[in-house]
Amino acid sequence: MSDRHLELGVFAPTIGCAPSFGKNAFALVSSAEQRTEPTYDYNLRIAQLLDQSGLEIFFMAQRGGAGFGPARFWSYSLDSFTTAAGLAMATRNLQLISTVHTAFYHPGMVARIGATLDQISRGRWALNLVSGWAEQDFRMLDIPLLEHDKRYAQSTEFVEVLKKFWTEDWFDYAGEFFSISQGTCYPKPARPPLLYNAGSSPVGRDFAAQYCDWYFAGAQAPELLAEEVADVRSRAAKQGREVKVIIYLFVLCRDTEEAAHAEIEEIFAHAEFDSAREWLETLTGQTVGTVASTLGQGVSVEDMLRSVILGVGSGKLIGTPEQVAHALAQFHAAGADAVGLTFRHVEEELQDFIATVVPLLEREGVRRPRTLEADSLRASG
Ligand SMILES: Cc1cc2nc3c(=O)[nH]c(=O)nc-3n(C[C@H](O)[C@H](O)[C@H](O)COP(=O)(O)O)c2cc1C
Repeated sequence: MSDRHLELGVFAPTIGCAPSFGKNAFALVSSAEQRTEPTYDYNLRIAQLLDQSGLEIFFMAQRGGAGFGPARFWSYSLDSFTTAAGLAMATRNLQLISTVHTAFYHPGMVARIGATLDQISRGRWALNLVSGWAEQDFRMLDIPLLEHDKRYAQSTEFVEVLKKFWTEDWFDYAGEFFSISQGTCYPKPARPPLLYNAGSSPVGRDFAAQYCDWYFAGAQAPELLAEEVADVRSRAAKQGREVKVIIYLFVLCRDTEEAAHAEIEEIFAHAEFDSAREWLETLTGQTVGTVASTLGQGVSVEDMLRSVILGVGSGKLIGTPEQVAHALAQFHAAGADAVGLTFRHVEEELQDFIATVVPLLEREGVRRPRTLEADSLRASG
């Protein structure tokens, strides 16, 4: 039994498809029914459920714009700063993680937003820094999509300036992307908020190793995760730093394995292959055929698209509660410190997950047993 505690929560359903273009879809690129709504009220219920159940993570991506393919997949997105402010008022312990595109915001303004969220959340707010990849989003805003490594050079200046606003006064900064004269920001956060990075290219890993507290790993299987974690930890060690590792996983947990697999076939029967293809080609900047051949033997275009359709390219936990708990324990053993979960029908399946899988994880020592508000109230009579 390890004393490392696996933090759990959701990759929140704050994003989906623009409703006028068909059915909403969040974790499945499929028109199969998904009883999940990317609205504030729905996310409020999820956040409160997590908080009351003693789970830790509420991760919000930030998308929007045209989305991908005919279904306009992920074209709908709540704003992750204002959503964090609302949820901070309605929860007590949950970590709220917003996402910022470093090319779309000024770090001085984000420093002020973050310092305010630090007060509202009483230190529970964190920030995921993304450098951007969807060309159509940049085109819409008339902001140039720089070449890949140049985007990280811009993110580097962004994070340096952001940290200075949070910790220094009257600083000057002369960069290629940002110039600051006599920079100062009040309020300042009580402690600089934790920073995340979701980008797994070599330069993305170096960025996380040098500037962030958490690295969002993309590996889909425990053995690949172990390699990715070792690489990122060694990059961080060269900087004299440590980073923690978070992953996101799609869960399809049913009473029997047969029921889970039958449902997967139903999801594939309604798959939106064109939208999945566009999502993948935009993310990688290559055709799916090229990506498949780079990955080598045994990886077909069909397999890659199916992995996007079911869980949007994440790793997958499929089967009974025992099988799901066992697979999660393997990801934990491979180096994951936290997991953001996604589901087909988020609210109802998260309730089931908390009732059936979390106790197994506690029993196996993957998670510390929870001290729930309800339990302590009961104990105090
Ligand atoms: C868990 C996770 C969350 C992400 N969230 C966002 C997001 O909210 N918005 C966004 O534009 N990109 C998001 N990305 C994409 C990454 O930020 C990054 O641009 C992409 O992975 C390519 O980076 P790389 O070339 O360094 O791998 C996310 C990626 C992962 C793995």
